[in-house]
Amino acid sequence: MTAPELRKTFLKYFESKNHKIIGSASLIPDNDPTVLFTTAGMHPLVPYLMGEKHPEGKRLTSVQKCIRTGDIDEVGDATHHTFFEMLGNWSLGDYFKKETIEFSWEFLTEVLGIKKEKLAVTVFAGDQNVPRDEESAEIWKKIGVNKIGYLGKKDNWWGPAGQTGPCGPDTEIFYWTGTESAPNNFDPEDTRWVELWNDVIMQYNKTADGKYEPLKQKNIDTGMGFERTLAVLNGFDDNYLTELWQPIIKKIEDLSGKKYKFEKGDLGFDEKPDCWDEDVRSMRIIADHIRSAIFIMGDAKGIAPGNKDQNYVLRRLIRRAIRFAFLLGIKENFCLSLAETIINLYKSDYPELIKNKEFINSELSKEEEKFRLTMQKGRKKIHRLVLGFEVDPIKELAEQKRTDVRSKIIKATAKDLFIIFSTYGFPLEMSLEEIKFFESHEFHTVKIEDNIEEKFEAEFKKHQELSRTASAGMFKGGLADDGEMSRKYHTATHLLHQALRDILGDHVEQKGSNINEKRLRFDFVHPDKLTDEEKQKVEELVNQQIQAGLEIVFEEMSVAQAKEQGAIGLFDKKYGEMVKVYKIGKFSKEICGGPHVENTNELGTFKIKKEQSSSAGIRRIKATLK
Ligand code: ALA
Repeated sequence: MTAPELRKTFLKYFESKNHKIIGSASLIPDNDPTVLFTTAGMHPLVPYLMGEKHPEGKRLTSVQKCIRTGDIDEVGDATHHTFFEMLGNWSLGDYFKKETIEFSWEFLTEVLGIKKEKLAVTVFAGDQNVPRDEESAEIWKKIGVNKIGYLGKKDNWWGPAGQTGPCGPDTEIFYWTGTESAPNNFDPEDTRWVELWNDVIMQYNKTADGKYEPLKQKNIDTGMGFERTLAVLNGFDDNYLTELWQPIIKKIEDLSGKKYKFEKGDLGFDEKPDCWDEDVRSMRIIADHIRSAIFIMGDAKGIAPGNKDQNYVLRRLIRRAIRFAFLLGIKENFCLSLAETIINLYKSDYPELIKNKEFINSELSKEEEKFRLTMQKGRKKIHRLVLGFEVDPIKELAEQKRTDVRSKIIKATAKDLFIIFSTYGFPLEMSLEEIKFFESHEFHTVKIEDNIEEKFEAEFKKHQELSRTASAGMFKGGLADDGEMSRKYHTATHLLHQALRDILGDHVEQKGSNINEKRLRFDFVHPDKLTDEEKQKVEELVNQQIQAGLEIVFEEMSVAQAKEQGAIGLFDKKYGEMVKVYKIGKFSKEICGGPHVENTNELGTFKIKKEQSSSAGIRRIKATLK
């Protein structure tokens, strides 16, 4: 089965079970301060899992673009990716355990034709708060599945996606990838069992104080790993051997002159880090990271590399790919030619990549140029640190040996090399390589600190701890924070969007939005810095609408109708799909999931605090309500 066939077969199956197909939402969550990226198919559905009515009904299905960076260190093995597609089906207070289990089973065994004896399942073993899920186990037994593992919260509980929100016990389906026949029992320690699908019985809401409250409605949320299922269906035990990756891997082979040596049966899904072939690992990381970067920049709310939030994650992905390309021996700039391959591979399913191709290419090449310079600086810094002077690459090395430094013992410490890593992104292994090179050329002056790898790791952990604390602060708002202030800012964002269009012109288009308790932030397309007069006019126009006491109402309609009525907002939905259009008096009409205040007179006074560039051609406004 090919990749497009698998996507289509999945959606068609659930359509035949009365589900409505919804398009993939943006990779950047709407007004959700708790997470940087959409991490699961359920993410855009949080308000509906919490009880709000979805315009398409109670049964939904989708193929959702996702980014998870939590596992970034695992990327390089056969199955972990930062960007991936998730196949999912949802019941919003409609069907429950029996139906979802039956759907999953029928789809895997009847529709995809996976052999029943190769499958096993797990269910929640129970804890002090939530009972053992005997009900799911009984349903599994009834349809003839007896390989059932009972596991605890670590394995059989899913969510919430951020700090708070919908979650619940789950039942997971595993596929046997071993070469011999599948054992009679499921063994969680045996990594030849790989998870294909997760059915979450989503009936709790985790609150900010860590409590689990029953949700208003009992939901089902499922997620099947697209790339892994595709690999299994085609008999591969390495996702990178599928058609989703092979053209990218081939391109990297061409660029580096090296071979992707990993063949079926070599190591398989259960390979361990210590068996990694370094070149294979580098190739996978480059392929994975550049693919993610392209989807982030190619999103409807596409963003550019930068130093904060999503922009920073993007920068790290690109830089990490460049580092591994360097290790692999790719000397030239390569990002653009890889981008071409990746965009071609995905353009029919994700046309936004074509629409934003120019932006992707220009940001990617700028970042590559910049980072190559940075890497050079990093090397110079090491030369200074280790040798006491910079090596001129043109001159013969021998001419540059200085007796004054040779007589000194210079120490290379983990702390110093970590500083080089954190300021220049120059990795430890590259620093050590440089240093060893000089040693081998008889600069007998360097003393590398004992156990430098472990000490470097410790520095890294310390640093991570600090950044984690910083992001925990940022996430304090809580998922699906429908607090009064965020409702207000959400409404004010619509007013600002329309006001910008009225004052600056219809080229203004939303590129990003983020709200917390204190301010709104809005990114939009506009070539120039706003003048003081423009800012004042925008402010006045928004405040006029607030004072006019406009009512806010919404209507559900198809995307086509919304377009016809001139609604603004992100048209990242599929044509024909139902959407909510929020109207603020006659002033604004915008596609959006809500929630909003009921009348603009609840908003107070609107003030623009800052107007700045966000990236090329994109401006950013921060504003408050007082
Ligand atoms: N939300 C569940 C997951 O991501 C289905 O695994």
